[in-house]
Amino acid sequence: MSRKDVHSYARPLEVVVRHLDLELMVDFNAKQLRGTATLQIDNLKKAEQLHLDSRDLKIDSILLDDGSIAKFDLMPAVPFLGSELIVHIKPNTKKVKITYATSPSASALQWLSPEQTAGGKHPFLFTQSQAILARTWLPLQDSPGIRFTYTAKVTCPPGLMALMSAENDTALHPHGIYTSNMPQAIPSYLMALSVGDLRFHAYDKRSGIFAEPITLDKAVYEFVDLPKMVVAAEELYGPYAWGRYDVLVLPPSFPFGGMENPRITFATPTIIAGDRSLVALIAHELAHSWSGNLVTNATWNDFWLNEGFTVYFESRIMEKLYGKDFEDMATVLSAGELKKTVAEMGPDNPDSHLYLNLEGRDPDDGMSDIAYEKGRFFLLNIEMAVGRERWDNFLKQYFAEHAFQSITTEEFLDYLEKNLIQGDGKLRNTKIRENIWVYGPGLPDNFPKVHSVELEKVDAVVKTFQEGKKVENPKGWTTHHWVYFLRALPDSLPLDKMKSLDEQFKFTESGNSEILCQWLELSIRSKYLDADTSLEKFLTSVGRRKFLKPLYSALAETAEGKKKAQAIYAKARPGYHSVSTGTIDEMLR
Ligand code: BES
Ligand code: ZN
Repeated sequence: MSRKDVHSYARPLEVVVRHLDLELMVDFNAKQLRGTATLQIDNLKKAEQLHLDSRDLKIDSILLDDGSIAKFDLMPAVPFLGSELIVHIKPNTKKVKITYATSPSASALQWLSPEQTAGGKHPFLFTQSQAILARTWLPLQDSPGIRFTYTAKVTCPPGLMALMSAENDTALHPHGIYTSNMPQAIPSYLMALSVGDLRFHAYDKRSGIFAEPITLDKAVYEFVDLPKMVVAAEELYGPYAWGRYDVLVLPPSFPFGGMENPRITFATPTIIAGDRSLVALIAHELAHSWSGNLVTNATWNDFWLNEGFTVYFESRIMEKLYGKDFEDMATVLSAGELKKTVAEMGPDNPDSHLYLNLEGRDPDDGMSDIAYEKGRFFLLNIEMAVGRERWDNFLKQYFAEHAFQSITTEEFLDYLEKNLIQGDGKLRNTKIRENIWVYGPGLPDNFPKVHSVELEKVDAVVKTFQEGKKVENPKGWTTHHWVYFLRALPDSLPLDKMKSLDEQFKFTESGNSEILCQWLELSIRSKYLDADTSLEKFLTSVGRRKFLKPLYSALAETAEGKKKAQAIYAKARPGYHSVSTGTIDEMLR
């Protein structure tokens, strides 16, 4: 149990990178980034070797600050960790300048042809560095326990805009040269770059939206509550530490819902439902500006410290903005999904502990409901044990005292003991019981009881439907009601029932990705072929892994479905990010 990061070759106790100056050329034809990364180092032990992470990089040459050419060893590649890069430095070396180029298949990068964008006219590039993919586009100490500041100069084709997880200019630069500065120290997984036909709309002095011109108006409408969310978050847990907060809406092949790149959240366009109903994702990425970006998991084994805190925080923002009845629905839905995940994982699965052991594995394996939802319910449980006021004060202090630092699970538990539990044995052993939550499997029996007045109304409708009676058109249902309704139905339904539901509620044509995905899953299991065109369209246009996974997996349950899945996948795969193909390849093998 330690700060040792098993997913990085860095040795920060010997030499630690403090600052990075990046100069990159973006070459869409070659699908390549080329340039230099100059690392400013603190040689704590007068070491003669600097150990860096790299993966699929071509290293051309390395210069030291005394003008000499450095020797280096690029070690053989290890699955997902990549190649250790050992640079021979001198005890007084302060700067190391690496000239390098990326591979066209670099996992962090997705190079989109114009046809893969919303506008269809210009190519697009975006990066996704979390968890350990930053090393596929720059050589660095790729560990969440190490922080550095950076500057960047990016040259891209004229007419396109380059944005980084840094201070950006919001205007287009006709010559395609962009400089960015990140004055706050960040861990490597928050390095981000995006290049495309982008425009900006400001909501106010602090926040706005970047998107392709064709998407901009829709996105601006959808995320109009952004400034209010930032204010709500600050009221909860203290001042926003990063200057601007903007959202960049990416093309649909982005493999995640969102990524909390500092100052500029990267987001999927699949949350643009037209009715502002899927904005919880923005609250989530914003919340990471505290939990994750400010106070960072020291290693990927501590991932729940990033995501569990963030889901909890997201939920508090949503409750503040949209009310308790609304947020209770989301909480009940999440508890349902978590219970399903835990049941699938089995009773003694160590991956259902909050503190993970990902040694020898891809940290991506830790991205389950456990870190997110078990993490959040653990914190909710503490809130219920000590009361909201005391808990909020504790959290505010926690963020303030650990700002711009990383933290391990063990350090968090010590902090909790000293600052909240304060030796109260009854509170620790009968109410909070942190050890069984963090180091034990499954869901402890002090799992918080949650319920939703709104969803109880849906239960009544489901009952009517199950009894074979006609369901009246429900009034004022939100996405949460519908998703809950669809999940409450059996795994498959007879065709006549599918048809009548579809006729009444037009699910197959839904423009709401959450509702559509849920309906398509049910359609696959019910062999409801009327949804096939919609299914194929969805799978070939959207690259978000969260949607691809359940749909391909439902298809793969039958031999005939698997064939269909393989045929669709053959068409869709070139448009997916490596994060998504990594998962689906395995599933359809
Ligand atoms: N930081 C994560 C995305 C991530 C985690 C990328 C681990 C790579 C490795 C991001 O904040 C996230 O959790 N996104 C979720 C949305 C959220 C509302 C649960 C997603 O993309 O689905
Ligand atoms: Zn997250």
